[in-house]
Amino acid sequence: MAFNLLKGKKGLIFGALNDKSIAWKVAEKAYEEGAEIVLTNAPFAIRLGDTEKLAEACNTEVIPADATKIEDIENLIKKSMERFGGKFDFILHSIGMSPNVRKGITYDNLNYEYFLKTLDVSALSFHKILQVSRKMDALNDWGSVLALSYVAAQRTLYGYNDMADAKSLLESIARSFGYIYGREKKIRINTISQSPTPTTAGQGIMGFDGLVDFSNRMSPLGNATAEECADYCIAMFSDLTKKITMQNIFHDGGFSSMGMSRRAMDVYTKSLDEYYEFNDVTHKFEEF
Ligand SMILES: NC(=O)c1ccc[n+]([C@@H]2O[C@H](COP(=O)([O-])OP(=O)(O)OC[C@H]3O[C@@H](n4cnc5c(N)ncnc54)[C@H](O)[C@@H]3O)[C@@H](O)[C@H]2O)c1
Repeated sequence: MAFNLLKGKKGLIFGALNDKSIAWKVAEKAYEEGAEIVLTNAPFAIRLGDTEKLAEACNTEVIPADATKIEDIENLIKKSMERFGGKFDFILHSIGMSPNVRKGITYDNLNYEYFLKTLDVSALSFHKILQVSRKMDALNDWGSVLALSYVAAQRTLYGYNDMADAKSLLESIARSFGYIYGREKKIRINTISQSPTPTTAGQGIMGFDGLVDFSNRMSPLGNATAEECADYCIAMFSDLTKKITMQNIFHDGGFSSMGMSRRAMDVYTKSLDEYYEFNDVTHKFEEF
């Protein structure tokens, strides 16, 4: 059900690759809620993905931009402003990629060229988008900018690798730029820390299925889906959240506040019993 929460608003959405992408769901809902949008993605992703199909459904166009290249971002903002007939109101940064993760290189053996690429694509791109938008005075007062993060920015999760460092940087950029843009133009900048979600980027993480199951068992409300994340993004773009800025907001069913849940303990205990049985251990607690 739509509430017209974004009626009259205009926004730019980065990162819709296919119908599993979080940005895809955000674009659909933003359009449903009355927003006029422009979609963008890296040129290679537009060739390989379905972004054009989404543009058709949302009555808009896709403007290619590699989010690590300033000249691409400048061109994107310029063309978006031409299409919108002036300034716009919101931006979604839904971009992440680590060549180390892709190539299965572990955190204690990082390739530093790849590491820099991870940081550039997944975090610095957020700064570049904000800096170019500010220099081109692209956003209306009381605009809203969001990026998507993950709890690995605060806590170590096996397999998340150098993306954890990228997410920490991303969240820090939201705070540092949030001060500048807030003070000057009342523009709010936040990150949403989302549950593990089965998308192209998510499924590239080592042990992803186990991670999804674990966080679902740990979270009293269960994992948040991509659709639920999109609902939250819409609320954050709307005028109902005007004084929230420089925050990292968890959208994870409660996972980030948990230590151990009964549902996770059940599985842990079952595996321990199997381990004891297999190893013929009698003095259980002496073993550990
Ligand atoms: N899926 C999860 O489990 C999960 C959990 C928390 C946060 N996130 C974050 O959500 C965001 C969206 O990821 P997703 O899960 O929807 O996966 P996705 O693979 O659908 O989206 C990632 C997007 O990044 C784009 N991208 C990569 N390099 C780019 C570049 N140089 N320029 C412009 N775009 C580029 C890709 O083309 C793709 O559209 C990412 O920041 C991701 O880290 C995902």
